[in-house]
Formats: sequence, C-alpha cells, structure tokens
Amino acid sequence: MHAKVTIEPFRIKTVEPIRLSSEEERKDWLQKAHYNPFLLTSDQVIIDLLTDSGTSAMSTEQWAGIMRGDESYAGARSWQRMEAEIQDLTGFPYILPTHQGRAAEHLLYSKLGGSGKVFISNTHFDTTRANIEFSGAQAIDCPVEAALHPEEEAPFKGNIDLEKLEENILQHGAENVGAIILTVTNNSGGGQPVSMQNARAVRNMADKYGLRFILDACRIAENAYFIKQREAGYQDKSYREIAQEMFRLADGAIMSAKKDALVNMGGFLALKELDLALQCRTTLIITEGYSTYGGLSGRDMEAIAIGLREVFDPHYLEYRIRSTTYVGEKLHEMGVPIIRPVGGHAVYIDAKAFYPHIPPEEFPGQALACQLYEAGGIRACEIGSVMFGHYDENGRFIPAKMELVRLAIPRRVYTQSHMDYTVEVFRYLLDQREQVQGFRITYEPPFLRHFTARFEKVN
Ligand code: F0G
Repeated sequence: MHAKVTIEPFRIKTVEPIRLSSEEERKDWLQKAHYNPFLLTSDQVIIDLLTDSGTSAMSTEQWAGIMRGDESYAGARSWQRMEAEIQDLTGFPYILPTHQGRAAEHLLYSKLGGSGKVFISNTHFDTTRANIEFSGAQAIDCPVEAALHPEEEAPFKGNIDLEKLEENILQHGAENVGAIILTVTNNSGGGQPVSMQNARAVRNMADKYGLRFILDACRIAENAYFIKQREAGYQDKSYREIAQEMFRLADGAIMSAKKDALVNMGGFLALKELDLALQCRTTLIITEGYSTYGGLSGRDMEAIAIGLREVFDPHYLEYRIRSTTYVGEKLHEMGVPIIRPVGGHAVYIDAKAFYPHIPPEEFPGQALACQLYEAGGIRACEIGSVMFGHYDENGRFIPAKMELVRLAIPRRVYTQSHMDYTVEVFRYLLDQREQVQGFRITYEPPFLRHFTARFEKVN
C-alpha cells in the first residue's frame, strides 16, 4: 500500500459529544437568537464552522506542554520557549505576547495610527480594520482584481494589487501611510494565498517610499503550503523555510496564535524596531500583562511554542489543505457557487449567486447562514454586507464587495463524515432556494456589528 491517499494523520484520544437536535428545535433557537448564529449557544450547534480560530484540537505533545507550563510572573521558562520559537521563525528580535491577535493589533495600530493616517492592505480583517478605524485612521483594501471574481481560477488571489497600492501611497502621501499590511492567507478575501513574489514586491515598495511592511501572519503555514505547491522555485524548500523567508521580508508581524499555532488562546506582536517595540511594550504592560506573559498563562505559551512547530509538519499541512479542498470540490461539483480555487482554512460560498433573488441590502449571506443552521445545525459566518456594508453621508446603502458565507474548518477537529454531512445539507438547500427570504437589521452596535446585531425576516 503506497497510494497517495490523504488521511487524518492522528488518532482520536478524547472525544467531545455533539448534541444532535431536530429542525423544529433549531428553528425555535434561531428565532430566539434573533437570526444571528453568533447568538446561539454551542450546544445548539451540530457542526460548528463559525471559525477556525481558537477551535483547534491540541496534540498530546501540547497537552504535555500544558503540564510543564511555568506560571512565574516574570521570565518563565514557558515564555523563554515561546520567545525563542517565534524569534527563530520570524527573525524579529522583539516579541510581545498578547492574549490574542486583536490585542497585538491594538498595541501596534494605536501607535502607528491616528487621525490623518492610512493603512493599505490586500484586505484588512475585520478586527484589523476596527483597530485602525478606532485609532482615527483609515483602512484601504487593495486586493487584486481576480479576488473580486469568485469563479475565476488564479493561484494567488490573496495578493495585493501593486498598482493600486502605489496610487494610494501617492494620493495620501507616504508620510501619512501608517503601514502596508499583508494578510496571509487573505481571510476576508476567501482564504486565498499571497505569493512570495507579491510579498517581495511589497518590500520593494515599502523601501521605495520609506514605509513599514507588517505581516498579519495568523495563517502563514497554510500560505506556505500554497507557495510550495504553486510558486516556481519553492518545491524543494520546507514549509517552515518558506514562512521564514516571508517573515524576513517584513518589518514586523502580528499573529493570532488561535489559527496556525494550533492553540485555543494566544497571540503576539513581533517587531524589528526597538523604539516601536518599547512604545508597544508600555501599552502591553498597562493593558495585557507584564512583558513576559502578556495576557497568557505559562501553559498557553508552552502550547504555542509546540504548536508553531507542529503546524509545519508536511503530513499535517497536506491533510489540512486537502480536507478543506475536499469540501469545496464536492460543493462545486454539486453546483454550489464557491470562491475558486478553494482556500486554506475555509470554503467560501458566494451567497449572491446562491440566492440571486435576495438583494445585498437584505443580506443573502445571512439568509444562507440561517438556512444552514435550520436545516443541518451547521453554524457558519456571513462575510458580506452584514460585516462590511454601511451607509454613506447621504444615507445610501454601500454593500460589501462580495456576499460570502464562510465555512471555516477547525484544525484536527472534524472527520470526513462530518464534512460529508455538511455537503449533504447543501444538497438539500439547493432544492429550497427560491422560498428563502432576506433579512433586515433591528439592532446594531457601532463597531463590529455582525457579532451582536439582531435581525428579522423581510416579508
Ligand atoms: N487577523 C486575521 C487575518 C484574522 O483572521 C483574525 C481573526 C485576527 C487577525 C484577529 O485575531 O481573533 O486572535 O483576535 N480571525 C478570526 C476568524 C476571528 O474567525 O477569522 P484574534
């Protein structure tokens, strides 16, 4: 037996029961949750594809690390391990631990941001955008054109559009650019990878205008997988070497460890410049914790150090990407419109194409997320006009560029039969398409409204 069959490269040692519910129960629960899946409780959910963040199953080594965790306030052994691992991976000397990615974003963007500043990215993730806007600065997305065409096959749809990047630098003035940010993989743009060539071009652009280049690296191992498979010159490099090369192009990195560090909580900011690191460290100590633990327990730091190694295991990464692709390919064959090619951590459904009769202002993505839940107990996340839509000064509705629903796949958690079940639920939804209604918002908070907004059905 030698066949190139990709299987889950692990055995299951501990199980967590899933409560199986009926469609009637779910309809009632969803109505009580104001048609926002974020407001459901987890035991009301059968397959939770809301996020791949903090939902990984840890390995035996990581659990062993949890026991070894050193909980000393200052200079813990677990901190030393985490710091050394991140320094080796990123090449940056100054490492600031934080309780998750957005805390690192807050530290950095509250320093680099402020009124009059702009940040330019392939696509800002929602917490990135919120932290930048909260500082008074502006966040500008410059994805490549292909990223806006879900069905178009291209190897690196996560890339930043270099021409638009330069236009924006010139338009706003280099002195007003807080940083260029590459999000790898590009989460809000479909989990699509960024090529090394694109990252190198951003480095050159940053040098040309004297700008900082920051990597949002939370899925950098998955991005490295795509580079090795798709970009010339990387076939003989290891995934870790590819990630190291990309980090070394940047001036700093933010990482939510809840993704590719395979842990349930944690993050960090890694920087090249001492001055900036010292400024961020002051805020770190005021808002997160002392500089050798940030918001983390020693055991969390131990698990991060181990997870950052495990994630680059070729068998893990092949299984990881293959299992996401498996779901995407099945849906595509069935006629479900998805972003192609399938990204790393999630399958993105084009809800505008799935429900062409629901206009963006009635949130087709929210409608699909609600249908998935009612029909199959599957929880997914809308990434469309609920998340990014807004009204301009004249009260005109500005929709998001795309109306997507994300099926984010937790790492090492679900088996192939869970995924087959998910695909079957879509088969059922395909037949019911015409009857499905849109939604209107009945309550929304001023920032990150998708988490807590309430909805009602449009008649
Ligand atoms: N950057 C990216 C690209 C992300 O995907 C996330 C989180 C963050 C930053 C913030 O990290 O959650 O640790 O504070 N993404 C999660 C998601 C929430 O579901 O995609 P965090």
